Amino acid sequence: MITTGTVLVVGGTSDIGRATALRYAQAGWAVQLAARNLLEAQRNADDIAIRTGAKVSVHYLDVLETQRFDEFTDSLSPAPDTVICLIGDLGDQYRAQSDPEYATNVLRTNFEGPALLLDIFAERFEARGSGSIIGVSSVAGDRGRASNYIYGSAKAGLSASLSGLRNRLAKAGIHVMTVKPGFVETKMTVGLKLPTLLTAKPDQVARAILSGQASHRNTVYVKPIWLVIMLIINLLPESIFKRLSI
Ligand SMILES: NC(=O)c1ccc[n+]([C@@H]2O[C@H](COP(=O)([O-])OP(=O)(O)OC[C@H]3O[C@@H](n4cnc5c(N)ncnc54)[C@H](OP(=O)(O)O)[C@@H]3O)[C@@H](O)[C@H]2O)c1
Repeated sequence: MITTGTVLVVGGTSDIGRATALRYAQAGWAVQLAARNLLEAQRNADDIAIRTGAKVSVHYLDVLETQRFDEFTDSLSPAPDTVICLIGDLGDQYRAQSDPEYATNVLRTNFEGPALLLDIFAERFEARGSGSIIGVSSVAGDRGRASNYIYGSAKAGLSASLSGLRNRLAKAGIHVMTVKPGFVETKMTVGLKLPTLLTAKPDQVARAILSGQASHRNTVYVKPIWLVIMLIINLLPESIFKRLSI
């Protein structure tokens, strides 16, 4: 099992990503931040390096540029031991329902890009015989709801892809972990009214990722109450579920 090494945080400007990179750096990992906004990623890198003394580097990545994934992966030196993908875009459900081009962007950002990128790392980790793959998905992917089913269906795709990777890579000793944070207070949810009991801070997610990896978890619900909620929601018959406004 990998306990330290180099971690690649994909989504190096994400609030959860920044907290996660800091926790890994504090635990002795070297950190690579991948982001499309290099200025902001560099600010995060400098902050983490000053606070922890860890080696932190910054790398350009737009997750929609799938044709550049091989080049991106080749450019990482050293090759990471762990990759954590935190890229996501909640999008505007109402706009996405009637604007296919916009919806395509949301679907590609949350599903196609992350899933295909993690596939590239899977191939390399499998050939090397070591590595950990961590994908941040969402409870929104556990059952489609009117309020966010474009985002939710993309996250459902990502969860299925991570499950497939786990099934494929178990024999090769590659750990694949799916993280479902529930609500988190970040720039993604600014302006939304979130129930305190069900809402995590970015650092709680970061700690759950670090400890989940250390204990080799398959799926992590950051706040365990979400596992119970989603079990109940998934058990509801469709005849009842379709009438609910949740
Ligand atoms: N916040 C929540 O309540 C919540 C709940 C469940 C799951 N999650 C998931 O947790 C992860 C982190 O989210 P967060 O809450 O930390 O939100 P965030 O701060 O808005 O982070 C989203 C990240 O995705 C990046 N991104 C979006 N499109 C990209 C692209 N085309 N190429 C490269 N990077 C791109 C953003 O980069 P830019 O800075 O360049 O935009 C940003 O780093 C996401 O996967 C999200 O779906 C969040």
